[in-house]
Amino acid sequence: MIDKNNIYTKKYIFMRNFTSVHDLNNLKDAIKEALEIKKDRFAYQELGKNKTLLMIFFNSSLRTRLSTQKAALNLGMNVIVLDVNQGAWKLETERGVIMDGDKPEHLLEAVPVMGCYCDVIGVRAFASFKNKEDDYSEKIINQFIKYSGRPVFSMEAATGHPLQAFADIITIEEHKTKARPKVVLTWAPHPRALPQAVPNSFAQWAVAADYDVVITHPKGYELSKEFTQGATIEYDQEKAFKDADFIYAKNWAAFEDPNYGQILSSDRSWTVDSKKMALTNNAYFMHCLPVRRNMIVSDDVIESERSIVIKEAANREISAQTVLKRILEGLK
Ligand code: CP
Repeated sequence: MIDKNNIYTKKYIFMRNFTSVHDLNNLKDAIKEALEIKKDRFAYQELGKNKTLLMIFFNSSLRTRLSTQKAALNLGMNVIVLDVNQGAWKLETERGVIMDGDKPEHLLEAVPVMGCYCDVIGVRAFASFKNKEDDYSEKIINQFIKYSGRPVFSMEAATGHPLQAFADIITIEEHKTKARPKVVLTWAPHPRALPQAVPNSFAQWAVAADYDVVITHPKGYELSKEFTQGATIEYDQEKAFKDADFIYAKNWAAFEDPNYGQILSSDRSWTVDSKKMALTNNAYFMHCLPVRRNMIVSDDVIESERSIVIKEAANREISAQTVLKRILEGLK
């Protein structure tokens, strides 16, 4: 007889790799599962026993590093962290290159070697902005999927940050007071050119969650339609904010050619402040963090009672644990 409470005989949705909302099969089920995990995050400690997570960072991180490690520990896993640019050999990523420069190891050897030491691999590799085709074909993380021999999940890749978007959607579900809230993704100024990964994923996941999604930005900052399909684009930020239930602020560099990866505007009138928040339906303020105060958002808005940025960050542990749990279930 099957024991329904036995985690190894329950019916599961297995997942090999996680790079997009499409890998979850059904977002509503995944949110439900995440909220169950949040109630008892140590319920699956046996699942990861004697399994090792390798977290590989090509770029810096605070939240992803800590929350994913914590999620793995909650599941009983061992964790190894590698910062590729600090203490490891610099990696060549292009095939056919004569390796007479400063990169002594090729990704094509390094990736299968990394796969020898672990059961699951998390990768953070941002867009380089050197080549749009390489960035939008997700060249780095796809090489891990192809050559590591292990399940791979994104800890923010060139075009998406699905663990962040998953945490954001969990947070909205916990705070929304209507079935279909108005959720506004707004561009805001920043001194550096930032990837489109976070806004791409947020837009895609918010549409998948069936919210009323509005994206507002100056002309020239249109995101890839692959991610924004189903959302409304509104170039007037104040109009977009009207009656919003959630404001999600983020900077991103231009996507469209010939300006891919460039800063087109530093217009501080796009900073989210209390005057603009007053146009909303007493909206919650969201940002993935780290955030540049008084560039992206004013001090008073991020410190207000309606700011839920810390709750979003806390839910990163839950989104990571849900994803890792599904991957581990696929290994059994
Ligand atoms: N939001 C997020 O991914 O934060 P880190 O870059 O600090 O990991």
